[in-house]
Amino acid sequence: MKHNRDMNSEEFRKHAYKFSDYIADYFSKIDSFPVLPEIEPGWLKNRLPESAPEEGESFEEILTQIDDLIIPALTHWNHPKFMAYFNSTSSAPGILGEFLSAALNQNAMVWKTSPAATELEEKTLEWYREMLGVTNEFTPFIYDTASVSSMHALASAREKKFPGVIRNEGLSGNGKIPKLRVYISEEAHSSIEKSAITLGLGLNGIRKIPTNERFEMIPYELEKAIAEDKMKGIEPLAVVATVGTTSSTSIDPVKEIAAICKPKNIWLHVDAAYGGTAAVVDEKNAVVTSGWEDADSIVVNPHKWMFIPVDLSVFFTKEPETLKRAFSLVPEYLKTAEDSKVTNYMDYGLQLGRRFRSLKLWLTIKYFGKKGIAEIVGEHIRIANQFKDFIDKSDGFERLAPVPFSVVSFRALPNEKESGEVINRFNEKLMENINSTGKLFLSHTKLKGKYAIRLVISGLHTKEKDMLEAWEIINDEYQKLLK
Ligand SMILES: Cc1ncc(COP(=O)(O)O)c(C=O)c1O
Repeated sequence: MKHNRDMNSEEFRKHAYKFSDYIADYFSKIDSFPVLPEIEPGWLKNRLPESAPEEGESFEEILTQIDDLIIPALTHWNHPKFMAYFNSTSSAPGILGEFLSAALNQNAMVWKTSPAATELEEKTLEWYREMLGVTNEFTPFIYDTASVSSMHALASAREKKFPGVIRNEGLSGNGKIPKLRVYISEEAHSSIEKSAITLGLGLNGIRKIPTNERFEMIPYELEKAIAEDKMKGIEPLAVVATVGTTSSTSIDPVKEIAAICKPKNIWLHVDAAYGGTAAVVDEKNAVVTSGWEDADSIVVNPHKWMFIPVDLSVFFTKEPETLKRAFSLVPEYLKTAEDSKVTNYMDYGLQLGRRFRSLKLWLTIKYFGKKGIAEIVGEHIRIANQFKDFIDKSDGFERLAPVPFSVVSFRALPNEKESGEVINRFNEKLMENINSTGKLFLSHTKLKGKYAIRLVISGLHTKEKDMLEAWEIINDEYQKLLK
């Protein structure tokens, strides 16, 4: 038996063409798949062999298994009626960017290991910064996810407050560091709490600030919490304001929060992982970016709403040098002659190896253009607001939050006299029934104790007609459940 070596150019060309056809076909029939797979947990694992094959298999054989095993176990994020979480779609230029990036296999640890990946990241992020209307006081970096971007924000805040101390001596047992606090709203994303766990601040290092009836952080409550903590000897480290919270897409009042943070030298990080993309729409820009100029750092995820295949998150910081101080550690084998003249991305974060993510961002921005991206994002906002009007005008449903972006949080309200728990259970069942149709995928949250169904319009292939069909499915399932 002859073992497989790598494919030669002709074989590669043949299979790559086949793959392109496969992907094109997948997209042309994306509507025909159930959005959620109709399988039980363990379905795929039980169909895969216990051990890796001893001998290589033919690529043709492997391809048939994608159809038989992989596709049936997919949740189709690209489906036009995937309206759950923050839907994210792979655009064709994004996919091709990933394809080429894997082929070129760049590892931008330092400039020398990939001048192209380093400089394309620098330049494309300057474009992206300008597209969002972020000032050039901020230096942008690509990380994989918003969770990781925000972790680097809090690490920068820590380094700024105690230069070198935590970096060198750690947090435990050095006796020099008071208890530190990070303030977030009660609607902030769990990734901030995970950062606190990671950075040794602990979950008790997080204080959740109450929100108003629009789910926005109340600045007065923030100020009060900071004063209370200071009285107890707890040191405020950072505030994280969210622009587009996960549950309701509420927008914390960044300007007012910044006015509290600035005089107290508290690091202000803006989590605009989802909402930030709306800044590309002229009419939305002012609402989205209000106060950003006074922040210390911001995160926006092109992989949430700008058709970039996961993963790609952009972190903007006013203090790249603080970030570098927190993380740079250069062993002999990574020193290069160009170090003083170039950006070595390994200096600005935890990871050494870095994928060529900027390629898919560059290709996507170039292909759609600023106007093309703004038009699609603006259309999502319009369609979501149309859905919002349906909810507002209907008898059986009520809206649970404002709609500043492209997410509508709502619930069925068959009988106002029922207890909160009964209404919650009705909505839980309703969503379960909707999702089990396979035609539509919605997600849920709780807003001030109320079970809320979220409908998200942020998929590249999601059109007005899909929203109309979704509304029909929701109504059908509602009527069935009432009976
Ligand atoms: C507001 C917000 N921040 C952060 C995140 C985390 O994003 P990622 O998956 O990129 O870490 C999310 C995810 O939905 C989010 O909604």
